[in-house]
Amino acid sequence: MNQKQPAISARGVVKSFGRQRVLDGLTVDIPSGVTYCLLGPNGSGKTTFIRAVVRLLRLDGGEISVLGRPVSEVGKIYSQIGYMTQHKALYPDLTVEENMQFYAGLYGLDKQLREERLEELLEMVDLLEHRGRLAGALSGGMYQRLSLACTLIHQPRLLLLDEPTVGVDPRLRQTFWDYFGRLTREGKTVLITTHLMDEAEKCQRVGYMRAGRMAAEGSPEEILRLAGLRPQLKLWLAEPQKDAALLRAQGYEIEIVDGVLQVRLESHAQIKDILAVAMPLDMRLAEPRLEEAFLRLSEAA
Ligand SMILES: Nc1ncnc2c1ncn2[C@@H]1O[C@H](COP(=O)(O)OP(=O)(O)O)[C@@H](O)[C@H]1O
Ligand SMILES: [Mg+2]
Repeated sequence: MNQKQPAISARGVVKSFGRQRVLDGLTVDIPSGVTYCLLGPNGSGKTTFIRAVVRLLRLDGGEISVLGRPVSEVGKIYSQIGYMTQHKALYPDLTVEENMQFYAGLYGLDKQLREERLEELLEMVDLLEHRGRLAGALSGGMYQRLSLACTLIHQPRLLLLDEPTVGVDPRLRQTFWDYFGRLTREGKTVLITTHLMDEAEKCQRVGYMRAGRMAAEGSPEEILRLAGLRPQLKLWLAEPQKDAALLRAQGYEIEIVDGVLQVRLESHAQIKDILAVAMPLDMRLAEPRLEEAFLRLSEAA
């Protein structure tokens, strides 16, 4: 498959449960070789979309292609896909290591590769010391870590991870993200759903779902722009009113809040132009956050 072709391409996807239209004409391309974050309120259809991609449910309308194949053939390429569900999918009465062995066997990994993958992944998810523990006796975070390791055992080209970092501590979440970065550098694709905005900001592309459609889609920077959010430069000045007048005359959008002058920036390159006019005692750059962008986009919808 060439790298230009999207890993997943959905066109006008419709799925209803009873009278509820959960996917309502969803159209999206997930490019190959990126981390793509699917965000959206509970019930917006994220999990349903992922389940449709692996054909755990039939569509009522529209089309999906996965790794260049129509979704009707996705069963033939399961060995290239890793799917981590939002719910518990491991064997509680098998140990950590036995669960991994089971998944490795399912994908027909030979003994040597199996051992290598097992050690590498147990280390990545920090479970080396707990390999003999029963999955059913793991804490929530440990269970998530084991689920991820099992999902990765066969080195899938396409990873579908439904809220994989729930209950995982921040240090290990960072390890996961570093690992995802490594996978995408190898050309693999990681589709991930999360509620955590700081995680979305780490993705190359973000899709914000609302009521079964893409409400906003693009790189985090594009989403910020779409929501009309811009970085803001705060300046502490000896004579804020005087500098405000000078900067306004040059067309800058200025506010003075509690004696602090605030300038909305079109681009970071404007900072040096502003500093050529005003000589601050102190300054701070406030970058807009994705969270605010989504709040605005939700209100506008
Ligand atoms: N198998 C199902 N049967 C009936 N309703 C379902 C089923 N799966 C999902 N739903 C409903 O579809 C909506 C979207 O669910 P879901 O895709 O899980 O959203 P999200 O993952 O964004 O929270 C929810 O209202 C949910 O109750
Ligand atoms: Mg979900």
